[in-house]
Amino acid sequence: MTSKEIKIAYVEFDSLMQLDVEDRVLAQAAIAATGNSYAPYSNFNVGAAVMFEDGEVIKGSNQENAAYPSGLCAERTALFYASSSRPDKAIKAIAIAAAQNGTLCSTPATPCGACRQVMAQYQLKSGIPMRVLLVGADVIWRFEKVDDLLPLIFDSI
Ligand code: THU
Repeated sequence: MTSKEIKIAYVEFDSLMQLDVEDRVLAQAAIAATGNSYAPYSNFNVGAAVMFEDGEVIKGSNQENAAYPSGLCAERTALFYASSSRPDKAIKAIAIAAAQNGTLCSTPATPCGACRQVMAQYQLKSGIPMRVLLVGADVIWRFEKVDDLLPLIFDSI
């Protein structure tokens, strides 16, 4: 028997001002996208912004439905829109932010398991690491690739 450990790496920032310009633009787009969320059941407004390799940014937000499973998280809304509208463009980064009652949450919202798997798939499709920014008002976490949020990724299809 062998005991093993998996380490993940991420960088913590105290404010948007500490990010480089590209990450700051993406983080601000995710914050703006929280305003497009439709979350009448949870009142938890999540925004996601995807950046392509050429710098273009598109946004998505969580969309809820009375038939609960029919709703979708912000990350998957943004990523499915990204791949369906620009199928040939590689994605290089995604930022995620959450707000309640119009106020950005102090700590970052961390993506659910299903969104991590979808992020992993689009990282594979893009063929480059997908940077992930989890944006809170008091703290921002930057992961250089999806693998750090989903160790032992399933990608064997
Ligand atoms: N939600 C997201 O949009 N992204 C996540 O990663 C976690 C949760 C949404 C789903 C639902 O609309 C609301 O947040 C509360 O769970």
